[in-house]
Amino acid sequence: MDLLLLEKTLLGLFAAAIVAIAVSKLRGKRFRLPPGPLPVPIFGNWLQVGDDLNHRNLTDLAKRFGDILLLRMGQRNLVVVSSPDLSKEVLHTQGVEFGSRTRNVVFDIFTGKGQDMVFTVYGEHWRKMRRIMTVPFFTNKVVQQYREGWEAEAAAVVEDVKKNPAAAREGIVLRRRLQMMMYNNMYRIMFDRRFDSEDDPLFVKLKALNGERSRLAQSFDYNYGDFIPILRPFLRGYLKICKEVKERRLQLFKDYFVDERKKLASVKRMDNEGLKCAMDHILEAQQKGEINEDNVLYIVENINVAAIETTLWSIEWGIAELVNHPQIQRKLREEIDAVLGPGVPVTEPELYKLPYLQAVIKETLRLRMAIPLLVPHMNLHDAKLGGYDIPAESKILVNAWWLANNPAHWKKPEEFRPERFLEEEAKVEANGNDFRYLPFGVGRRSCPGIILALPILGVTIGQLVQNFELLPPPGQSKLDTTEKGGQFSLHILKHSTIVLKPRSF
Ligand code: HEM
Repeated sequence: MDLLLLEKTLLGLFAAAIVAIAVSKLRGKRFRLPPGPLPVPIFGNWLQVGDDLNHRNLTDLAKRFGDILLLRMGQRNLVVVSSPDLSKEVLHTQGVEFGSRTRNVVFDIFTGKGQDMVFTVYGEHWRKMRRIMTVPFFTNKVVQQYREGWEAEAAAVVEDVKKNPAAAREGIVLRRRLQMMMYNNMYRIMFDRRFDSEDDPLFVKLKALNGERSRLAQSFDYNYGDFIPILRPFLRGYLKICKEVKERRLQLFKDYFVDERKKLASVKRMDNEGLKCAMDHILEAQQKGEINEDNVLYIVENINVAAIETTLWSIEWGIAELVNHPQIQRKLREEIDAVLGPGVPVTEPELYKLPYLQAVIKETLRLRMAIPLLVPHMNLHDAKLGGYDIPAESKILVNAWWLANNPAHWKKPEEFRPERFLEEEAKVEANGNDFRYLPFGVGRRSCPGIILALPILGVTIGQLVQNFELLPPPGQSKLDTTEKGGQFSLHILKHSTIVLKPRSF
């Protein structure tokens, strides 16, 4: 059986080589392609550049080949953009042309081939989904409806840590508690519900399935089957696991959250009480026939990955940098004490009075960008960029991390120095008003969640620094900040143990 498969594969590879050579000859004549390493038939540049296309490796390639470069990864064309001007072209000037998302074998499974919003092509379906999600998730009204909940969640973290004597002695993995907080922040918005304990079996199951989804989708292990379709049979086992995880996960969303909310909503409607949560709005759109039940579940899927993990990683990075830069941590604490008065909790309406806190957050998002290559873009049709031809359906990676860490554009970018956002870069905001700094992207496919993420980051980091001195564990002078990159994500490799010494006011 396996021999037969091997034989077929070898034959297929041979046939593909002939086709690839013929196509590249034809293409070479017609197209002026961006520079890049010389591809070989079938594999393209895959054997040269490998699987790990993280922001740092792509930066090294940009230094060799320039601000626009082309990698041929098997059958896939991958264009890497590394200058503010070309990024503006992709995200703004030609935002429609480059406003689609790439497909890949694994994301196709998790998104039902683009029935969601984050990974769907630019067009009617995306427009409808983005419109339907805006009112329940992405307005200032939502912030005002939920900000007290986020403040209470941060305060609950503070209380739990204070109750745990280990926190002030040998330290705790704070991330675990913050993870439940982030689930609660988003599940309050989505379903008007929260989890009381990290041991709640439903929370444990949810967290495990979301974790599996992220690991499977962000891994580089499936690249070979994605780049070289003829090798796809070898990926059968991997794709089977993806399908199982996807099905179990959507079923969990449906049985325990969406259906529960449907039942509750019908009771509430009769009583005519209570404010609507996001799911009530989404279910109304379903009732009107604008979207179907699968779309509803994919919205829940998108929020689980796009909102919870990204914000959690950013909080985790921010705390790690503050532990490793005690003088910055002290300065931040002094600002909060001076502006609010000792012991007065940091709340969302007060954030604008705390410029140093905002600068700490901006600096965290600059140096430790959670999505350093943005979510990959794609051009549905042949296009032009920087004077080059970009073949249809190329994957376009904007190296946003390099834009924000290139010494040609930033003073000592490798330093964690929030002051830059109060001094030489005081006008730069996180909303994309400067093409050197795009932690949330900009333009049509930019992150609509920025309106929630920034206050959640401010309230959480603010309350923690206000209530504790954050230190590395005994015997360690710094936290390990080794990075772990994925297909387009960046998080800290090791979830650090942190000592939190309560302050007395
Ligand atoms: C610190 C936290 C966050 C960061 C750094 C972040 C970053 C990003 C980035 C870089 C993109 C892709 C932009 C592009 O492709 O051009 C994106 C897309 C998206 N984000 Fe966020 N995000 C965060 C939090 C959130 C939150 C809290 C939500 C929802 C509540 C959210 C929802 C989305 C959605 C739905 C998209 C897809 C938009 C589209 O394709 O049209 N994000 N985010």
